[in-house]
Amino acid sequence: MGMGSGYFVTGTDTGVGKTRVSCALLHAFAAAGKTVAGMKPIAAGSENGTWPDVELLAAASSVSVGREHINPYALVPPIAPHIAADRAGVEIDLEVIHQAHLELRKKADIVIVEGAGGFLVPLNDHEDSAALVQALGLPVLLVVGMRLGCINHALLTAHAVRAAQVPLAGWVANRIDPEMAVFEENVLALERRLDCPLLGILPYDQSHDARDLSPLLDIARIRMGS
Ligand SMILES: Nc1ncnc2c1ncn2[C@@H]1O[C@H](COP(=O)(O)OP(=O)(O)O)[C@@H](O)[C@H]1O
Ligand SMILES: [Mg+2]
Repeated sequence: MGMGSGYFVTGTDTGVGKTRVSCALLHAFAAAGKTVAGMKPIAAGSENGTWPDVELLAAASSVSVGREHINPYALVPPIAPHIAADRAGVEIDLEVIHQAHLELRKKADIVIVEGAGGFLVPLNDHEDSAALVQALGLPVLLVVGMRLGCINHALLTAHAVRAAQVPLAGWVANRIDPEMAVFEENVLALERRLDCPLLGILPYDQSHDARDLSPLLDIARIRMGS
């Protein structure tokens, strides 16, 4: 395969399982025989000089790519990206991310791009992550962090994705609250309303290994040509 394809993983919020699902997707595509690379264009929040999302995505990748292409923007404070960039005297440039993405696409059949925060997070004074998805030309996969309030957040996100005229190719139900009441009914409510395929349901699991979770995601269900 020459030029590859891929997906942009967004979520209903920060901390809902985007990294976990992105890594599981990388393992799922690798198990299907694809070469895979993860990308985190903008990471905000360093732990001891490393960015956990970048490390996890790199570890789940099957090709080796330079960190400058996996993660063109590494911002230290765990705050909103455009503010972190501003404090660092940097302006996030979508063209820089686009070029880095092209480098990854040269090396891997499938590139999974993890967004920062949710879909409408600003990246600079005039662009947000919706603009980034448009610039990269990728379909979106939505991770719903299953907890009370998630139906509204999921529908708002799907609405924003469609308003950006970007394909919504599928969603994943990630159980982040083990105590959530009427879990199955919430999944069903979303299945009926999101109008895109449910790729899988990830259980609450603190001792996670993305490789073990990948069989729970059915990548064959991803909506094609959307
Ligand atoms: N299904 C789950 N069960 C238990 N813990 C989870 C689950 N999904 C995510 N987590 C934990 O929640 C935190 C946030 O997940 P992460 O994938 O980093 O979210 P995001 O990338 O959206 O910020 C991590 O510590 C992760 O291990
Ligand atoms: Mg993450």
